[in-house]
Amino acid sequence: MRRLLAGLFGLILVGAVAGWIVTAPVTLPDAQVAQAPGDTTRGARIFWAGGCASCHAEKGAKGDGKLKLGGGAVLATQFGDFQPPNISPGPDGLAGWTLAEFDNAMRRGVSPQGRHYYPAFPYTSYARMTAADIADLFAYLQSLPAVAGKPAEGDIAFPFNIRRGIGLWKRLYLDDAPVIALPADAPQAVRDGQYLVEGPGHCSECHAPRTQFGGIDKANWLAGAPNPEGKGMIPNITPGKLTWSAAEIADYLKTGFTPEYDSVGGTMVAVQANMAQLTDADRAAIAAYLKAVPAVK
Ligand code: HEC
Ligand code: HEC
Repeated sequence: MRRLLAGLFGLILVGAVAGWIVTAPVTLPDAQVAQAPGDTTRGARIFWAGGCASCHAEKGAKGDGKLKLGGGAVLATQFGDFQPPNISPGPDGLAGWTLAEFDNAMRRGVSPQGRHYYPAFPYTSYARMTAADIADLFAYLQSLPAVAGKPAEGDIAFPFNIRRGIGLWKRLYLDDAPVIALPADAPQAVRDGQYLVEGPGHCSECHAPRTQFGGIDKANWLAGAPNPEGKGMIPNITPGKLTWSAAEIADYLKTGFTPEYDSVGGTMVAVQANMAQLTDADRAAIAAYLKAVPAVK
């Protein structure tokens, strides 16, 4: 009996140690973080492509209000309520953060204290961004107004409130490789669009279904998903369903009007407003990529 208990205890210990190791936060090697400071003007483009204001500015913020990143509305999900924090440059936000700390938050989902972030912060997409774009974005954020006040922490149910467990989830779903293997002769616009959609644009976070563990189902990339806001579906935007021309897609992203002159609705309203801040070339690239992804019915 004593030997059995000792054996069991040993197994539990080994399991706990193994569990602790596989859930450990993984940070970027120093060489993968940009060495030179970023550029504010270039960073503005990444800010709009990345949609930071949609979650970190006050709900319904307009104009310059979108640049006050004091923490936005709670994101209610089946796992609990996630609170986007203050990421303004003030003491209640990112004051004192180094570029490496910011980069590890953006591309590895790890906080300066070594805690895992919840993937409600779409770092699984941001992980595909370049170090230079992260540096530019960081420079841009520092040029924005400081906002006082920290929003209250989110309310997350057990066992999801144990952040350490996210380490295991990341082993399954945090992958910075491109999702779609483009042909060697793919035009540059398609490649640029791939970067914007798969990386900063994080379009799949809404437009792709999820696996039972909440990871993005890459086999149905951009093929539509149940709407977390409640009713209906988020549309399939692969050529298997979306028959608009590339010019019509680019125009929708610019103006918010479909080819049938319906206006954009739901959570796409904020995304479209961000897309309207990009250049025609960037919107054309996004459209070219959407025409090039595998068609899913
Ligand atoms: C879909 C909503 C959403 C979008 C879009 C989003 N974030 Fe967040 N972000 C969050 C949430 C939620 C958290 C908190 C996660 C947690 O508590 O683990 C967070 C946390 C962060 C943090 C950590 C802050 C801290 O105090 O530890 C940083 C930095 C950050 N986001 C930057 C950005 C930037 C820059 C962008 C745009 C490129 C962005 N986020 C876009 C939801 C979002
Ligand atoms: C926050 C969730 C969300 C994100 C992120 C998102 N979308 Fe959407 N998208 C939607 C919803 C919801 C609709 C349906 C809009 C409507 O009903 O008017 C939609 C509609 C669309 C449509 C029109 C499809 C149709 O058949 O009407 C296109 C094109 C589109 N999105 C492209 C994109 C691109 C490109 C990105 C990334 C840059 C993106 N979306 C990111 C939620 C999202």
